[in-house]
Amino acid sequence: MGELAELLSGLDLTVDTTGSASEALRRIRHSTPHVVIAGHRPPGLDGVALLEATIAHAPDALRIVIVASADEAVELDYRPAHAGTIMRFVARPSERSRLVALVAEGIKLLGLVEEQRTLNRRIAIELERLQRRQTLLDVVVKERTKELEESYEKLKAANRQALFGLAEAIEAKDPYTKGHCGRVAAYCLVLAREAGYPDDGLETLEFGAFLHDIGKIGIRDAVLLKPGPLDDNEWIHMREHPVKGYEIAKSIEMLKPIMSAVRNHHERWDGAG
Ligand SMILES: [Fe+2]
Repeated sequence: MGELAELLSGLDLTVDTTGSASEALRRIRHSTPHVVIAGHRPPGLDGVALLEATIAHAPDALRIVIVASADEAVELDYRPAHAGTIMRFVARPSERSRLVALVAEGIKLLGLVEEQRTLNRRIAIELERLQRRQTLLDVVVKERTKELEESYEKLKAANRQALFGLAEAIEAKDPYTKGHCGRVAAYCLVLAREAGYPDDGLETLEFGAFLHDIGKIGIRDAVLLKPGPLDDNEWIHMREHPVKGYEIAKSIEMLKPIMSAVRNHHERWDGAG
């Protein structure tokens, strides 16, 4: 055993030796070694059994059993990932330098494995931190989006109210058409549903129907409110209200979807105007 310690003294290692298998196991359980080397001289010393007993406690360790004859020496490729591998090495003086080289290589490999594990642990920690930050960000974005959506809905409702109010104001001015816009909107919805009009278009249709006469804003009161029949010039002016409405709708973002309804609500089926 002293000879082995001397052999490995050139490496930067703490070498601990004992002649007793049970003492070796006790020490291994308290220290987790990187390399475990055992002699194998059955029946007195079962080095293979001793090394097998160390696998559970130090799975990554480089395990070398020194056997007496070349027949027993089956060399295996050592890799720390293959936990529990036991290398059989023949105890010949000429093999000593190979044994030292093997231990040195094993130590280097174990160092690399440990480095990789440390890196993996760091990556896992960073990843978890990033995921937590991402989750937090998602929550904040969701909250902000909800707030924006609510604000947009409120704004939309306010705009709708303002525009409906405008249509009602026109109606109020012109007793002849009082209630007309509301009735057109209601009939439109009934007809559209009956005709299988797409559900997502109903709101725009109702809006268009309600505001179709918005161009009457631009009709002179003397014509709009004239109790008697209109003369030719007055009719020409009155007939401008769809185009006037179209011009209004074109300049208001919210009314753009209903521009064609406003422009064409007096159009004949044959397109004759
Ligand atoms: Fe009209």
